[in-house]
Amino acid sequence: MNPRFGIASHKSLHDGIFRPWLSLFASTISRTVTGMDSESFSARFKELRDLVDTSLAELLEQQPWPDALRRAISYSLMAGGKRLRPALVLMGCQICGGNQKDALPAAHAVEMIHTYSLIHDDLPCMDDDDLRRGRPTSHRVFGDALATLAGDALQTLAFETLGNAPVGPAIAIDCVRILSSASGGPGMVGGQILDLEAERGAFPAGPEVGVNLQNSPRSGDSGRNSGLPSVETTVNGTLKPEDSRNPASTNDSFRVEQLIQIHKMKTGALMTAALELGSAVASATADERERLKKFGQNIGLAFQIADDLLDVTGSDERLGKETGRDNELGKLTYPSLIGIDASRQKAITLVDEACVALDIFDDRADVLRQLARFIVERDH
Ligand code: IPE
Ligand code: IPE
Ligand code: MG
Ligand code: MG
Ligand code: MG
Repeated sequence: MNPRFGIASHKSLHDGIFRPWLSLFASTISRTVTGMDSESFSARFKELRDLVDTSLAELLEQQPWPDALRRAISYSLMAGGKRLRPALVLMGCQICGGNQKDALPAAHAVEMIHTYSLIHDDLPCMDDDDLRRGRPTSHRVFGDALATLAGDALQTLAFETLGNAPVGPAIAIDCVRILSSASGGPGMVGGQILDLEAERGAFPAGPEVGVNLQNSPRSGDSGRNSGLPSVETTVNGTLKPEDSRNPASTNDSFRVEQLIQIHKMKTGALMTAALELGSAVASATADERERLKKFGQNIGLAFQIADDLLDVTGSDERLGKETGRDNELGKLTYPSLIGIDASRQKAITLVDEACVALDIFDDRADVLRQLARFIVERDH
């Protein structure tokens, strides 16, 4: 058995969610947070997480699936994720005056899409990871075929769940439109493609890149994207393409623009959708919807920057996934491109900007301000 699998239950990762790993964050972001203290926020977040966990487990029980599929889906979906995206749906709905119960199906749906994206992200043909949510990855336990199919079934269940939501056809259709766009080609899936292309400096893609996205298994990491130029990360964190076919790839500001596009699509789109879903279910005003969308776009990018930073500075045990993989795979990430300190500063600025968008909600939005703070202060 791989020694990396000997990790404590990921459930324990939720204990003490405020463990500021950067005093810089704590001092800067606190000014954007008003009435709600961190203990009240932690209690509210836990309450929402418990609600999502319990109701998701019930929903899985009702599915007429083959046993193998039930085991595989349950293994990944009930493995103790942070439930950040469903919490955003529920909080967004509540802040706009909606009923939490009406938003629960949308909260489930977004977590199903997220979990499917993680299962597929870990596959040998993608990031080829062994550990997720404190457990061996789905394909390591169930094999590539069942892991792929578990992701597929989670995706379709997400839309079935939205279709069954007690919100009336107009809102249900709006929700389907929001989630399908955010999770498909214009959003998560499109971003994942750009992320893979960007490995070893090959984004924007040349015409032959589609062929080169054939990856080999983990044991042969050197063979992943084998036709692409390799990338070294220097001490100050700047990427140095050794043999780039893309002349613009040496231009750092151009590459930052590429990176922002990747992060907004692969991660930001689904987080933004979570807030849009919450406001749609609440029949929010156009201004409220726009504000929450803007908040989601900023925290979505901040979240992925924090994820990139944690891959460099975090611990496998706290994160429940293996660190250092981005560098091993030659991923285009914030710390590798602009360095650790500038990445931290960028995340702080994004959270500040996110909170400005919430001003029309007054202290009703304090829970979201605290969540934004958690996103960049977290250690898991
Ligand atoms: C991890 O997301 C994948 C990214 C988009 C970076 P989370 O950090 O929210 O993962 P879970 O749901 O808590 O496992
Ligand atoms: C994944 O980004 C984004 C998804 C759409 C799943 P990463 O590849 O950085 O996520 P982790 O670090 O494996 O969780
Ligand atoms: Mg990935
Ligand atoms: Mg990954
Ligand atoms: Mg990552």
